[in-house]
Amino acid sequence: MVLRKPGPILVNGLIRLEYRGYDSAGISTIEKNGISLIKDKGRVKNLESQAGLKELEGTIGIAHTRWATHGKPSKENSHPHMDNSKTFSVVHNGIIENFEALRERLKGYGYKFYSDTDTETIPNLIHHYYKKGGIENFLKAVHDACMDLKGSFAIEVICSDFPDNMIVVRKDSPLVIGKAEGENYLSSDIPAILSFTRNFYLLNDYEFAVLSRDNIDFYSKDLEPIEKEVQAIEWNAVGADKNGYEDYMLKEIYEQATSTRETVGARFQTGKQTSFDELNFTKEYLSSLNRIYIVACGTAMHAGLAGKIAIEKLSKIPTEVDIASEFRYRDPLVDEKTLCIFLTQSGETADTIAALKLSKEKGAKTLAISNVIGSSITREADLTIYTHAGPEIAVASTKAYTSQVVLMNVLAIYMAEVLENNDQKYLDSLKQDILDLPEKVEETLKVSESLKGFARQVFQEKDVFYLGRGVDYAIATEGCLKLKEISYIHSESYAGGELKHGTIALIEKGITVVGVLTDKELIKKTVSNLQEVITRGAKTLIITSDKDLDTSSFDVVLTIPETNSFISPVISVIPLQLFAYYVAKEKGLDVDKPRNLAKSVTVE
Ligand code: AGP
Repeated sequence: MVLRKPGPILVNGLIRLEYRGYDSAGISTIEKNGISLIKDKGRVKNLESQAGLKELEGTIGIAHTRWATHGKPSKENSHPHMDNSKTFSVVHNGIIENFEALRERLKGYGYKFYSDTDTETIPNLIHHYYKKGGIENFLKAVHDACMDLKGSFAIEVICSDFPDNMIVVRKDSPLVIGKAEGENYLSSDIPAILSFTRNFYLLNDYEFAVLSRDNIDFYSKDLEPIEKEVQAIEWNAVGADKNGYEDYMLKEIYEQATSTRETVGARFQTGKQTSFDELNFTKEYLSSLNRIYIVACGTAMHAGLAGKIAIEKLSKIPTEVDIASEFRYRDPLVDEKTLCIFLTQSGETADTIAALKLSKEKGAKTLAISNVIGSSITREADLTIYTHAGPEIAVASTKAYTSQVVLMNVLAIYMAEVLENNDQKYLDSLKQDILDLPEKVEETLKVSESLKGFARQVFQEKDVFYLGRGVDYAIATEGCLKLKEISYIHSESYAGGELKHGTIALIEKGITVVGVLTDKELIKKTVSNLQEVITRGAKTLIITSDKDLDTSSFDVVLTIPETNSFISPVISVIPLQLFAYYVAKEKGLDVDKPRNLAKSVTVE
């Protein structure tokens, strides 16, 4: 078998992982004369031009693309980090919370530090514990070092004494191992190595793996050998490619007819109850619930806002939506009679996982809704449902959001059917509306392209406001976040009725206000609020499904297909996603990798 050179493979993998962080990047391989180290601040493509990369020969290598936590983006702070003797090289995701104490301890032993990072303590700590000898000594040193670490970590370590091996371990940070023919791969996420294999091992907290080209040995926290089952992943590499689109975000926006169809799958069948093989809810169980919490961050939390409306209305169970980072620290009222739902695309968001652990401790049943098979949260939760939206690479979440909204609606209908507290004909009509969504998504994508022109009028503005009521407020909030994160334009979303309680002071001539008008019960009310901003000189973009609405006073009107208000977010968010995209493109920005952001927020 021809051994492949590591440089191009590692760079390629980093390019695919760059959405997770892109402040700096680096590579280490084991060469004949010791460990190589090539790293710098900036994007991964800078690495390709670095001297020596093409000459790397060693067939074991590690690489990293960084999202800075400790220390600014700089060459010194980039990973990999080596110990003082240059025997070990390490890449690390996560945060070592006790790094300052460890640093002081290691300084006391004579170690010197050349970066501001928490990570640099790790190779030196391994070196401190290392006694030359067999591979078991290397493993023992990594193990002993990890036992000193507090915080979260996924660590890959290479050692110049073992040119054919690598050791990896994780705690609270993602790590997957890909098994291929005569080659093994490691990554924080599946897409980076999907073109090499579809067979993966997933490590649990404090499990260690010793890898060579054609073997993987697994060990428990006590270094006892353990067996792990290989898992086959259904995604294909094309799903994780741009597939001819200019950006991942645009591709993912256009995939929403397919992704929402995949989310529903075969759950609705004529004349049958909605099926959720993953759940075992009984009428008695659901009737005993005192409350449902939907806990998430960012866009997933916005999907929760839309989901709450359907779940509460159909199941009549009080339902609250909470920001994971708040929930985990506010001693929430959770007990055995609470169902806690955790929405997360990546399944790796640190705050959401911590909120789940807390709910479990308090005795609640926990349900994870994730897009990533085998992600950390799915291994912590009592129950898991997958959104099946396919890989989402762009930092700005689009198709994961619409799939989450669809899935929450399917769940709400399922619960209503189990509870038998709604007219079945009504529930059947809601199911039909969900089945009709893909066609309506296609139609909405087409009409929304006309927003390119309006984006050209807005891209130089400093502030944009979004208004809506009820479910339209939830959408306004998501549309607003999309604009902020990829175009860097300050934007705020308000419940229409709330505007006059302060924010209207900011409305002046020429300011852009986006109104979302789909909820029939509330359209007139929001129109009145929009008249208030028009009177004060605002220019307006209206997204509406009401074909009979008098739109003469608005500047730009986009009419989208009508559907029931529970799932209207799936349709009405599309023009807002595309609007944000067009504005960011007009500004010449990198929409897939907006500044300061990372796709998976695996740190607190
Ligand atoms: C969405 O556009 C964001 N980049 C972000 O708010 C994201 O939704 C949030 O970090 C939660 O991620 P998760 O769904 O993977 O948990």
